[in-house]
Amino acid sequence: MWPQVPQALLRLIPEQASTVAGQVDALFLFLVAVTVFFSGLIFLLILVFVLKYRRRSEAERPKAIHGSLLLEAFWTVVPLGIALVIFVWGAYLYFVISRPPAAAMEVYVVGKQWMWKLQHPTGQREINELHVPIHRPVKLTMTSEDVIHSFYVPAFRVKADVVPGKYTSVWFEATRTGEYHLFCAEYCGTSHAVMGGRIVVMEPAEYERWLSGGVGEESLPAAGEMLFTRLACNTCHKTDGTGRGPSLVGKFGKSEKLTSGENVAVDESYVRESILNPQAKITAGYPPIMPTFKGLVTEDQLLQLVAYIKTLKMDGQAKP
Ligand code: CUA
Repeated sequence: MWPQVPQALLRLIPEQASTVAGQVDALFLFLVAVTVFFSGLIFLLILVFVLKYRRRSEAERPKAIHGSLLLEAFWTVVPLGIALVIFVWGAYLYFVISRPPAAAMEVYVVGKQWMWKLQHPTGQREINELHVPIHRPVKLTMTSEDVIHSFYVPAFRVKADVVPGKYTSVWFEATRTGEYHLFCAEYCGTSHAVMGGRIVVMEPAEYERWLSGGVGEESLPAAGEMLFTRLACNTCHKTDGTGRGPSLVGKFGKSEKLTSGENVAVDESYVRESILNPQAKITAGYPPIMPTFKGLVTEDQLLQLVAYIKTLKMDGQAKP
């Protein structure tokens, strides 16, 4: 297993409460160890050489030195090896952190000056607070209404920019119940320092109780479906494919052929772009007639539409 940080170090390193925390700390401690070792070695060598090669008399002239191929090769190859270890280790960890497991529970996050708005797929909305079950991967799909923020939970070793105009994502799996600080880690204006909150990690049964205790809000896909009808999206994007726009059934997660001949992956970002800037990437075989919905839908509503389109399965039935 990954090393557990001793209690005495807890003031230097935040507690470990996610599956990646120990791995991040192991890499960090390795970097610290390498740095301390070489700093010590250099200080020691300076001291030794200062004493050993000091000038002993006025008349002393140093001997000429002609270098050593062996020594040069040694101090080239060893640092190269260490740098490669850091690179491979860091890249591996980056991939682990940036790829959410397929079964992850999805939560949608909108940052704004100066609060965090979080929505569960089942409809619960939270401000500056996120309740999650323990031992379950949670994927966050995040965007901002105004400026760049950064979603930072030190105990999970998770930090990701939240950028206006696009979706970024991050995931974590909590390993300990309790409350953990959530920070904004990107300076975003006057109240940046107080833009934060807490993540509450609960036992699964307790989490289910919390979920059912919420006021009866409709689920995200259900809210998205109502919006889809209210904005009249359904008059063109007919489910049977006879509309003026392509049917959206079974499209999410697949690849779509464009008029330009390119293929594009139908993901959260593509759906979002197609709503706000429909002319950017037109599905092959359809005319560029869709108007933009920029200014007509909020970031929260965009996420509801995305959640709805995700549920449109091949059989043509929405399953919120
Ligand atoms: Cu939001 Cu700093």
